[in-house]
Amino acid sequence: MSIVNAPKGVLEYVPPESAAFVEVRDALLAEPALAGYSYIETPVFEHTELFVRGVGESTDVVSKEMYTFADRGDRSLTLRPELTAGVMRSVIEHGLDRGQLPVKVATSGQCFRAERPQAGRGRVFSQVNIEAIGVDDPALDAEVIALADAGFRRLGLRDYRLELTSLGDAECRPPYREKLIKFLSGLDLDENTRRRAEINPLRVLDDKRESVQKQLVDAPLMLDNLCPSCAAHFAEVRAYLDDLGVAYQLNPRLVRGLDYYTKTTFEFVHNGLGAQSAVGGGGRYDGLMEELGGQPLSGIGWGLGIDRTLLACKAEGLPIGTAPRVEAYLVPLGEAARSAAVRLAAQLRAAGVRVDIAYGGRALKGAMKGADRSGARFAVVIGDRDIEAGTAQVKQLDTGDQSPINLDEIAVFLKEKLS
Ligand code: HAM
Repeated sequence: MSIVNAPKGVLEYVPPESAAFVEVRDALLAEPALAGYSYIETPVFEHTELFVRGVGESTDVVSKEMYTFADRGDRSLTLRPELTAGVMRSVIEHGLDRGQLPVKVATSGQCFRAERPQAGRGRVFSQVNIEAIGVDDPALDAEVIALADAGFRRLGLRDYRLELTSLGDAECRPPYREKLIKFLSGLDLDENTRRRAEINPLRVLDDKRESVQKQLVDAPLMLDNLCPSCAAHFAEVRAYLDDLGVAYQLNPRLVRGLDYYTKTTFEFVHNGLGAQSAVGGGGRYDGLMEELGGQPLSGIGWGLGIDRTLLACKAEGLPIGTAPRVEAYLVPLGEAARSAAVRLAAQLRAAGVRVDIAYGGRALKGAMKGADRSGARFAVVIGDRDIEAGTAQVKQLDTGDQSPINLDEIAVFLKEKLS
């Protein structure tokens, strides 16, 4: 171990690539903001029990992947493996569900899962997440799904698909589960798989091994066993998505890694990512709030993986995060010029121009190199003689064009050139 190496499996972003991370996150948050989702910021650790109850004991996430520790008061805390449970806890605690429904909240941040690291899978990764709580309306399901789709499109992504299914509700899931257990009990499965089937039979449908898949061809599917109200709900969701022009594929074998889902459930899968291809997923979780001690309210939401979405953008060759960090670079030559540059930088920033200064009293040649490296389109060279004249030399770096401009007029000049 070396302290200058981050722990295994953590994903981090340093300049200049970090600009792409911010661009992806902000693009995915922009769509929910247009639909009235308010930002909510919840803590990175919670009581362990919240995730055990919320996410589900039988999931890999809870049984194998949580970063759990005792705090100094010997309470068991866990770094959040996902954002939904904490958001629900916060909504209940602050009584947001006592106001207008649905409660619409968006958040983003790091999640922690002790998974085996591989391309697109980290132990620390980041999600943008939304939840719409308290109204069970198929139009809301469609809105939530469409907002994810719009976020991906805003970034320019095209090579992905939306997989959609319904997992039924408290009325139709239990009898379906029995049916599936009965079917699975007649198969030739190893001990481990048999045990998984007992805890959560649905998860066996997701087994990737051919020897298992071969036996599952005639497995009963939830979609064929929905009760009339779930079937009607799902038909309406699909009709709204058709109306909105959001393409989807039905995947009746879609299995999510978290236990709280009911009815509408979905995943966005990118075609350029290899094994870790899910760029986002979500669905309804109509029993979750009550399970956590709140009102019996329904909810739906999604989590989109920022890291994987960024990889997807790269896979599609999108020019993401390529905007230079500054637009203008000030080069003061001499003492008087330096204080003029500090004042000018403040003035330009107030006008919305992104500006840096060649600090450290560098000579012209070195400072101009700095200007090139900064990616700025303009260098503003201020010599002591310019100061006397109240001007600076504004140089457009790609063309080499240069002219003296009054210090007071540089903001207007640059704003016009940069627009
Ligand atoms: P999830 O499917 O577990 O759902 O995670 C959502 C997304 O987070 C995944 O599609 C993936 O892009 C990303 N992700 C998950 N694990 C990793 C990892 N180890 N490394 C990199 N990216 C990862 C949830 O977390 C639900 N809370 C979503 C939700 C919100 N459902 C309803 N509301």
